[in-house]
Amino acid sequence: MQILGIETSCDETSAGVVKDGKTLLSNVVLSSMDLHIAYGGVVPEIAARSHIEAIMPVINEALTEAKCTWNDIDGIAVTYGAGLGGSLLIGVLAARTLAITKNKPLYGINHVEGHIYANFLTETSLPGYVLPQNQPQFPVLGLIVSGGHSQLVLWENHFKYRLLGQTQDDAIGEAFDKVAKILGLPYPGGPSIGDTALRGNPAAHDLPKSRMPGKYDFSFSGIKTAVLRLAQRQIGEDFTFPSFKLSERLSEAQKADIAASFQRVAVETIVDKTVLAYEEYKPKSVIIGGGVAASPELRRQLAERLPLPIEYTDPKLCTDNGAMIATLGCYKAMLNQPAADPYRLEIEPNLSM
Ligand code: KG4
Ligand code: ZN
Repeated sequence: MQILGIETSCDETSAGVVKDGKTLLSNVVLSSMDLHIAYGGVVPEIAARSHIEAIMPVINEALTEAKCTWNDIDGIAVTYGAGLGGSLLIGVLAARTLAITKNKPLYGINHVEGHIYANFLTETSLPGYVLPQNQPQFPVLGLIVSGGHSQLVLWENHFKYRLLGQTQDDAIGEAFDKVAKILGLPYPGGPSIGDTALRGNPAAHDLPKSRMPGKYDFSFSGIKTAVLRLAQRQIGEDFTFPSFKLSERLSEAQKADIAASFQRVAVETIVDKTVLAYEEYKPKSVIIGGGVAASPELRRQLAERLPLPIEYTDPKLCTDNGAMIATLGCYKAMLNQPAADPYRLEIEPNLSM
């Protein structure tokens, strides 16, 4: 079973081919990030235009890298939500058109579920990938942490899952991106805060962890505001001081301490709830997905506090990619899930789990 996966929900145009839900044959990712950096975040119109230009070359390269022709492809999987409307549309229209013209079954994929399935890839002959040795065992506790999502999900089996909790406002990646902006660090904020934090003291500042009514729910808007107030206090200004002028006045040492303290507390917030869910549900595997899963601090805290070893996938498979979409597509095809109608599959920008 060889599935082509297509992913265009945000700024990455990506396609990959996966065999039998475990072997990575190709993964081509073209990011329009360079075009967004000047704006400090993804500009939806620019992302959509980049997808139009990149989508067919990226798909063709994914087939070439996998040493496949269309005859070797058993189905097409595509992200239809959640994501930016204009971006999703390009991937879905390309996938629908190819499903019709190449006569292949089409599978609509929920982007957030896709992130978890990146962890099912255990084999590849592609250079530069370090994959887990074993596939996750059900029940699986999944933590999805990205620029758009912070969710804890319990999978009893493929397609049988329960959302335990999620963020009620900002996603954790979004909080990293916003705090980076306050500190004048480059976008995306996750890696730039991680690097700056290495030079700071994580215990320098106490920042609040929000208390949520839902046992497994998160909130990251409070900590973001707390960082803003802390930065204003550090330079002796009050809450009226504009956030975009803060980075000029903060010293490198102050920035490093704020980055390290923010990173520690933000990561602790999700690790606290992951440990709580682990104790309640005793899953056989814990897996993490989404861009923030690449964070060394998150991996360090999970290793320190969870009693079972976690196998992490390659950081290139944590951020948005077509291979994770192809992997979930394989399981849909292998386990006889219904295919989508290529004449009707619509995008769902607000799709939830
Ligand atoms: O999964 P992703 O590529 O896109 C979404 O679906 O949102 O995640 C992007 C997010 C950004 O907020 C970025 O700051 C964060 O992932 N990120 C990281 C790291 N690499 C990317 N956060 C922490 N540490 C990293 N190394
Ligand atoms: Zn994502």
